[in-house]
Amino acid sequence: MGDMSKMEVKTSLLDNMIGVGDMVLLEPLTEKSFIENLRKRFNHNEIYTYIGSVVISINPYRSLPIYTPDKVEEYRNRNFYELSPHIYALADEAYRSLRDQDKDQCILITGESGAGKTEASKLVMSYVAAVCGKGAEVNQVKEQLLQSNPVLEAFGNAKTVRNDNSSRFGKYMDIEFDFKGDPLGGVISNYLLEKSRVVKQPRGERNFHIFYQLLSGASEDMLKKLKLERDFSKYNYLSLDSATVTGVDDASCFRTVKNAMQIVGFMDDETQSVLELVGAVLKLGNIEFKPESRVNEVDESRVKDKNELKEICELLGIDQSVLERAFSFRTVEAKQEKVSTTLNVAQAYYARDALAKNLYSRLFTWLVNRINESIKAQTKKRKKVMGVLDIYGFEIFESGENSFEQFIINYCNEKLQQIFIELTLKEEQEEYIREGIEWTHIEYFNNSVICDLIENNTNGIMAMLDEECLRPGTVTDSTFLEKLNQICADHQHFESRMSKSSKFLNDHSLPHNCFRIQHYAGKVLYHVDGFVDKNNDLLYRDLSQAMWKANHSLIKSLFPDGNPAKINLKRPPTAGSQFKASVATLMKNLQTKNPNYIRCIKPNDQKASHIFTDSLVCHQVRYLGLMENVRVRRAGYAFRQPYEACLERYKMLCKQTWPHWRGQARDGVEVLLKDLQIPAEEYSYGRSKIFIRNPRTLFSLEEQRKRRLHGLATLIQKIFRGWKARTHFLLMKSSQVTVAAWYRRYAQQKKYKKTKSSAVIVQSFIRGWKARKILRELKYQKRCKEAVTTIGAYWHGTQARRELRCLKEEARNRRAVTVIWASWQGTKARRELRCLKEEARNRRAVTVIWASWQGTKARRELKRLKEEARCKHAVDVIWAYWLGLKVRREYRKFFRAHAGKRIYEFTIQRIIQKYFLELKNKMPSMSPCDKTWPARPYLFLDSTHKELRRIFHLWTCKKYRGQFTDQKKAIYKEKLEASEIFKDKKALYPSSVGQPFQGDYLEINKNPRYQKLNSLVEEKIIFADIVNKINRANGKGAQRIFLLTKNKFMLADQKSGHQVKSIVPLAELTSVSMSAQSDGFFALRVKEGTTAAAKGDFLLNSERIIEIITKLHRAGLDLTKEKIQIEITDEFLVQFKQDKVCVKFIQSNPKNGTMASCKRKNNRLLEVTVPSP
Ligand SMILES: Nc1ncnc2c1ncn2[C@@H]1O[C@H](COP(=O)(O)OP(=O)(O)OP(=O)(O)O)[C@@H](O)[C@H]1O
Ligand SMILES: [Mg+2]
Repeated sequence: MGDMSKMEVKTSLLDNMIGVGDMVLLEPLTEKSFIENLRKRFNHNEIYTYIGSVVISINPYRSLPIYTPDKVEEYRNRNFYELSPHIYALADEAYRSLRDQDKDQCILITGESGAGKTEASKLVMSYVAAVCGKGAEVNQVKEQLLQSNPVLEAFGNAKTVRNDNSSRFGKYMDIEFDFKGDPLGGVISNYLLEKSRVVKQPRGERNFHIFYQLLSGASEDMLKKLKLERDFSKYNYLSLDSATVTGVDDASCFRTVKNAMQIVGFMDDETQSVLELVGAVLKLGNIEFKPESRVNEVDESRVKDKNELKEICELLGIDQSVLERAFSFRTVEAKQEKVSTTLNVAQAYYARDALAKNLYSRLFTWLVNRINESIKAQTKKRKKVMGVLDIYGFEIFESGENSFEQFIINYCNEKLQQIFIELTLKEEQEEYIREGIEWTHIEYFNNSVICDLIENNTNGIMAMLDEECLRPGTVTDSTFLEKLNQICADHQHFESRMSKSSKFLNDHSLPHNCFRIQHYAGKVLYHVDGFVDKNNDLLYRDLSQAMWKANHSLIKSLFPDGNPAKINLKRPPTAGSQFKASVATLMKNLQTKNPNYIRCIKPNDQKASHIFTDSLVCHQVRYLGLMENVRVRRAGYAFRQPYEACLERYKMLCKQTWPHWRGQARDGVEVLLKDLQIPAEEYSYGRSKIFIRNPRTLFSLEEQRKRRLHGLATLIQKIFRGWKARTHFLLMKSSQVTVAAWYRRYAQQKKYKKTKSSAVIVQSFIRGWKARKILRELKYQKRCKEAVTTIGAYWHGTQARRELRCLKEEARNRRAVTVIWASWQGTKARRELRCLKEEARNRRAVTVIWASWQGTKARRELKRLKEEARCKHAVDVIWAYWLGLKVRREYRKFFRAHAGKRIYEFTIQRIIQKYFLELKNKMPSMSPCDKTWPARPYLFLDSTHKELRRIFHLWTCKKYRGQFTDQKKAIYKEKLEASEIFKDKKALYPSSVGQPFQGDYLEINKNPRYQKLNSLVEEKIIFADIVNKINRANGKGAQRIFLLTKNKFMLADQKSGHQVKSIVPLAELTSVSMSAQSDGFFALRVKEGTTAAAKGDFLLNSERIIEIITKLHRAGLDLTKEKIQIEITDEFLVQFKQDKVCVKFIQSNPKNGTMASCKRKNNRLLEVTVPSP
């Protein structure tokens, strides 16, 4: 059953109906049944009833729980007839066809004052706001649109006898949507505010809410700023008899209004200005005038208490004198002439009230415009529009105090009724045509005659009023009535005492200064008093100019006509013609939109819930033409429904369509209706809908459906019960079988288990017995085996132990022998050792004693010998002394004085003589190389000895040199030179010292091989030898003959022996380079630019490098008197043709012999490897 509740239940308007939800289905259709139906529904809180797509709403005068968010969800996206009638269904229908079908909509709400139009309009707006798009921006727009209502209601609504919150202005609001159905903004149009209420209210009514709200709700501070007092009674414009409305808290309303103004977008200073103006209007009412007689007998008024005037002027920033003057004088301008007349007291009061009314009504218009500015859609894109019209309701004061305002209000309602008639009929007709149904015209009352009576341009009441107002001469309300009497007397909807139709002459209910119009909603008696004035809506120019001069931006902007620069002498359009024009525009606008009607009905005059006054409702039903509406709706066909919906609802009434119809819905409906034998004239097939002529048919269908539903329910019940019982039975049966099976199984199992366990027990006993027997035997055998083993073991053990004992005894004995032997040996050894040690000690002691004895003996001997020697020496010395003494004594007589010195000198002389003689004999050889020299005999001759040696050496050298020939001298000179150049510089030098410089090693002039070469060289050859010339390209050597003369050197081919390779004059030789190593490489550098330099420098290798270089040096010096530069370094540059090549000498262990070798590494480096020493 849970699933059932989840299933979507298709409901219909026809379900759970209280009375009939749609009046079209009312049967029989009489006024009585109509009212009865409404009452029945009203008593069950069903305040909404349909007439087709029109919603009738009866004011419940209490809040009903039918506007909750749940209800909104319930009605959202549901078809109009799907749920019970509700204003939300209409709003949803309108919104969806706006959004989905792109049709602009208007919602026309009509009904008399207090019927609930304003509430209905708010419900529609709030529903649309709830279902349309969401989002921060959209929500703000919605909020602004909704919040415009409290602001306008505060300023434009008032408590009247009919309605505590009666709209005193007409309001039409266009809500604009984008293509998605999100609201974009809105535009409000207002229609003629009932401004006379500002200065005077009928008995039991109040002024506009805002006055009371301001005084009750404003803070003390604000009141002080506005120079107001909280007490209502202080203000003449506020009627006192009904200053408070029950159930309404003006103070909290004031806060709501202020908050709403803020949400709508009023700036704080704007709100303040608005309230200042409201305060000013209140205070204006307190200005009083007193007459003052003047000389020329003309009455002139004066302001009684100037304090109030002063405060107003302060509040509005007006110069007090200007305003005071405007209340006392009136300037009339005509053709550039200005005439100023004084005002009497009555005129002054009139001027004051006119100012108050104008101020308030202009403020109201400004408010509407200001709200429009805020709620204006921010886009220029195409918009879809939903218009909501909430106009003041039809109004009749039974007391007959109906005036110009009521006339205007009722005219407006008349126009709305007309458009309702036109559009409903049109729509109805169009539907028949659309659906292809034959249409027969239906009679209904058309109120266009009444509209014509009022608005006709030539003889309409409004035209005449305008005419009267514009007419020169004295114009009063009675002249206007006279005119009406003349022109309209014949009109069937117009009545007056003076009308020509005599039938009214007897009508005493018609006072003299009145006329009566038979409106669609009833007869209304209008008092002509004030018609002309109110239509003229005159404000003396002095006052508007005074207002324009105000130092208050809002008030200044309200009175642009007060600007003297823009004086317009033309009369402004009258209030009536203005209203007529705006109503005409509104009607045109409404005609372009798809209308949706809400017809509001007031159930009683007491504003009480639960009271349903038949007569009152009947009256409204009549004038609203609701019966006609139903009739028109039913004229053709009372009921229509799309085929799909119809088939879905009634398909159970026919076998072919129940439970499923597979074909087209229309064919299904046809089959259904034929099967039900409904007479063919009772229905018609439209294109998409079935039309049912008589409600009875529908009800009979409904009745049959209900019965059928009962039958179906019974059938379903029957089948379900059968199914349930059968299922239960089958379940029981199968359960019984299962239980039996299980039981049998259980019993068998039990028996089996018992038998099995008995068998097992018997078996186990037998097995036990057998086993025990075997066990016993086995145990016996085992014991025997164990006994044998044990005995054997004991025997073996005994044997073993015995043997072990023997072995141990034996071993012990053997060990004892060994130990005894060892200890004996040890004792013997120790004893021997002791003996040996004793012996050794004794021997050492003997030695030591011997040695010490010997030492003692030796020392004693030494001492003795020393003593002996000393004695001998002493004897010798003494003896010598003695001899000396004896000699001296003997020879003293032979010596003279100072003979000692002479003896000494003689002795020295003798010694030196002896020294020289000895030296002469021991002289070394004459060779300068002989370094031997005799030893020095006496120390004091040391320096002499050395000097003699030196002199001897020099002398031998001189002697040696003296033997030299000139040739030998030259050779030594050369050697000397070589020493200067190379000593301690080149490692090869020491080895060359011993070799004599031969010069011409090749013996050029002797050797016949070199005969030719010799003939080529004219000069004397200083040097000739074979040298190695280093190939510049690869560093390999080639043998060449090197010849040096005193002017040049030459290189010749060694093989041929005569071919000269190069000749270089010595003057062109700049320097020679070589290493400090023991190699023979050297480079001869040639002066740049000379012919010899063409091939570059020469790199040669010769063992006789020392000789060659020395000879080159000598020859160069002789030739040029300049020394050839000799560079000794291990790394130098040589010029080979264009390249400069570095020759680098490195030491390494020779690989191939002890020769230095040369190798070209790259085009920049030539490496010479020299064997390390
Ligand atoms: N649907 C409703 N639910 C509860 N109360 C309602 C409802 N409709 C109207 N009323 C009550 O009736 C009063 C009058 O309604 P409302 O102001 O809408 O009348 P109206 O038709 O606009 O009258 P008027 O023509 O004077 O402006 C409301 O203040 C409210 O108290
Ligand atoms: Mg209203």
